[in-house]
Amino acid sequence: MPSSHEALSESRPRAMLGSGRITMPRKLYPAVLAVVIFSAVFWFYSPRKQPLVIPELEFHNPNPVLPAAGLIIEPIAKYFIDFPLNGPDFAAVFGELGQRVQSLTRWAAQSDSDPKDFLLRESVENVSLSMFPFLRNPTKPDDPIPVATLRQSYQEGSRGIVIPVGSKDFRYAYHLVLNIRTVLQSKLPIQVVYAGDDDLPKSMREKFSAMGEDINFLNILEVLDNKSMGLEKDWAIKAFAALASTFEQVILLDADSIFFKKPEVLFEQTGYKKTGALFFHDRLLWQHGFQERHKWWKEQMEHQEPSETLLKSKVWMDDYAEEADSGVVVLDKSRLPVFMGLLHVGWQNTKKIREEVTYKMTYGDKESWWFGLELCGVPYAFEKHYGAVLGELRTDDDKSDVCGFTIAHVDEDDHLLWENGSLLKNKAVDRTEFQIPTHWMIDATWEKGATKADMSCMKGGLVREVNPNSQSLSALLLRLANLRYVPRAHSNVLLST
Ligand SMILES: *[C@@H]1O[C@H](CO)[C@@H](O)[C@H](O)[C@H]1NC(C)=O
Ligand SMILES: *[C@@H]1O[C@H](CO)[C@@H](O)[C@H](O)[C@H]1NC(C)=O
Ligand SMILES: *[C@@H]1O[C@H](CO)[C@@H](O)[C@H](O)[C@H]1NC(C)=O
Repeated sequence: MPSSHEALSESRPRAMLGSGRITMPRKLYPAVLAVVIFSAVFWFYSPRKQPLVIPELEFHNPNPVLPAAGLIIEPIAKYFIDFPLNGPDFAAVFGELGQRVQSLTRWAAQSDSDPKDFLLRESVENVSLSMFPFLRNPTKPDDPIPVATLRQSYQEGSRGIVIPVGSKDFRYAYHLVLNIRTVLQSKLPIQVVYAGDDDLPKSMREKFSAMGEDINFLNILEVLDNKSMGLEKDWAIKAFAALASTFEQVILLDADSIFFKKPEVLFEQTGYKKTGALFFHDRLLWQHGFQERHKWWKEQMEHQEPSETLLKSKVWMDDYAEEADSGVVVLDKSRLPVFMGLLHVGWQNTKKIREEVTYKMTYGDKESWWFGLELCGVPYAFEKHYGAVLGELRTDDDKSDVCGFTIAHVDEDDHLLWENGSLLKNKAVDRTEFQIPTHWMIDATWEKGATKADMSCMKGGLVREVNPNSQSLSALLLRLANLRYVPRAHSNVLLST
């Protein structure tokens, strides 16, 4: 019967009601589901006033297994590589690069003491290469560890003299080698660094070879990448020559420097022995004269405590203009921080940076040395005095001044050690007139010559005679005079422009 059938079918829900279950019309199912989902999602994402309760961790693990340093530094290393300091405002990143080098130095030190941490070593290599692309050796483009390879190329315990020489400096460099090797009898090996045959032709290299034992050559283009260095017959090669040289401890000389004493003395200076880096001061000139330079130095040093050495600087403290005479630089690359600081100096001398900043803010490579080490927090030492005048006595009335074209530097016993400016009287204007200086003065007041043809004088200090130290210079000049009798082509190169 249809009616009883209907009654039956209607009775089912009732029966369920009777068993205590709640029912609702099917039409409402989607709405309820939506509310439930919405509430769950709301609960899940709502801010919680109470922190989530985290089960207590075992902090007192008796056998802690620290993750390797390589794992810890990996994200920072990646950050350094993904966000390189590549402009456009290079002047603004000298300081930050110094900070990054300080991290890199700590990692490299850790890597040196744990060579099995391969991830760490790879990160050190990759970050170094990213910061300093000149480290890519063009003769070994696939070397995965160019930094380690470069450091391994330094002969353990070696010390020597490095002279960057291009054909235009050949004559001065030849005088210098005569000076240190033949006259002063220095035993230090000499490495002449050049940038390919176009820079220093084979014929000139052969003349150096003929000067004695232990004079060898290093073509910088076979060690570091010129795409980044961009060498162009200027001062820029100096930092890279120091870096590429196979000597571990390097005396880097400008070709026109001249020594009064054996350069070996440099390695014995207390400041060098203490820090592994020794620089010399320029003339104390132009107080308050270069405000932009000072402002920039200070900005870049914002995150760096000035070193003890910097706090003694008259340039830093009293606002003089010129800090360093980079004609002689002494570095011990076996000390990791010095090596790393040298990378910063190299960076400052790469084509892009030097053209846009370094050689504009300051003069040539001069200030890049101490500034690089300072920014990387690497200790270094300076000659105690600022540059001395070297030349001749000039008396009028009862005053005596010393005037000349070259500046001189002393060792820690205040003895004349070397001079900047060749054996010529005035290298800048006359390339034929030689002069033996007779007097010098130090720690007094400069009166700068108006033009390159005018001598600069120092006034108000003790007049000192060069005589006690001059035998070496006289002997050198005698040697040069004798060279007039060697074949003409040879002497021409040596004695004329
Ligand atoms: C280092 O660089 C090489 C070559 O680009 C890459 O294969 C390697 O994964 C890098 N390693 C690290 C730790 O960044
Ligand atoms: C090195 O780079 C500079 C600047 O780009 C370039 O002028 C010079 O020719 C390069 N030197 C060599 C030997 O390729
Ligand atoms: C050498 O001395 C002169 C001053 O006579 C100075 O201008 C120059 O910068 C010095 N050279 C270097 C390489 O510092």
